[in-house]
Amino acid sequence: MNFDRHRRLRRTANMRDMVRETHLHKEDLIYPIFVVEKDDVRKEVPSMKGVHQISLNLLKEELDEVAALGIKSVIFFGVPNEKDEVGSGAYHDHGIVQEACRLSKAHHPDLLVILDTCLCEYTDHGHCGLIDPDTEDVDNDSTLPLLVRTAVSQARAGADIIAPSNMMDGFVTEIRRGLDENGFRHIPIMSYGIKYASKFYGPFRDAAESTPSFGDRRTYQMDPANRLEALRELESDEIEGADMMIVKPALSYLDIIRDVRNHSDLPVVAYNVSGEYAMTRTAIDMGLVDEEVIIEQMVSMKRAGADLIITYFAKDICKKIDRGE
Ligand code: PBG
Ligand code: ZN
Repeated sequence: MNFDRHRRLRRTANMRDMVRETHLHKEDLIYPIFVVEKDDVRKEVPSMKGVHQISLNLLKEELDEVAALGIKSVIFFGVPNEKDEVGSGAYHDHGIVQEACRLSKAHHPDLLVILDTCLCEYTDHGHCGLIDPDTEDVDNDSTLPLLVRTAVSQARAGADIIAPSNMMDGFVTEIRRGLDENGFRHIPIMSYGIKYASKFYGPFRDAAESTPSFGDRRTYQMDPANRLEALRELESDEIEGADMMIVKPALSYLDIIRDVRNHSDLPVVAYNVSGEYAMTRTAIDMGLVDEEVIIEQMVSMKRAGADLIITYFAKDICKKIDRGE
């Protein structure tokens, strides 16, 4: 028995490579991009160094870089010029992410485009659905048809994958039916069904200009204290027809990623969110920790059971891989 001789397998680099259990590949990564409707903007998000809001007319350059680095999929978030009570910009056929998708498909047809199906970037109140004036809360069932319209317009623009992040009950059923009825049976749904009401989304809301103008999202996003509830969300999304499951945030929720992995055969996606990015980036830039922590964080998400990772570090990781690090 070799119980007391663990170091045998750690002796040389090749030996360690041979027994490594978890690997990170470029194809595991999904890169988020914030697209603004205004022209000529390439503005760094103050709370997310290295991440920019980018205009449609400058998007091609960004996508050229992304493709050259070997990133195989992107997810677009939109910053529209105008917002209204009902989030019309989300389901406009020439809305900002719809146009970003068309442009991407024109220049890089193979690059997978994922579109986020939600209203919060397009509503003037910043919530993910319609507000019921009596309760001042988001109304579930009147929001669903608008989400379906959004998903169908995204599919019409050429999206490869629809990723609904709104956390309304029944969104997978409704969006699946809407896609099927409009000739998009072949488009998968990557459900953000396990999404916690997290303070780690703060920098994203700066980047997407989507902070709620009143209240918070705790009546629709999950309580960070709950674990079993994630399994109930998983079960309903599977029954409703989700093709992949996102867990979000990721690093403080590795136990949830593992639970989902153990209870589901679907591909599991970890969303390494904006606040997680901002903390790590800042600590690296301040010289508090080595840049290598990025890889350690990615590997920890994969070890927990994630197949894919949505991360603002995607470019940095590909550069590291290209340098052979
Ligand atoms: C929109 C959405 C959010 C994120 C992705 N889609 C923010 C939110 O719910 O406020 C967060 C992503 C991140 O923090 O990186 N519903
Ligand atoms: Zn939202």
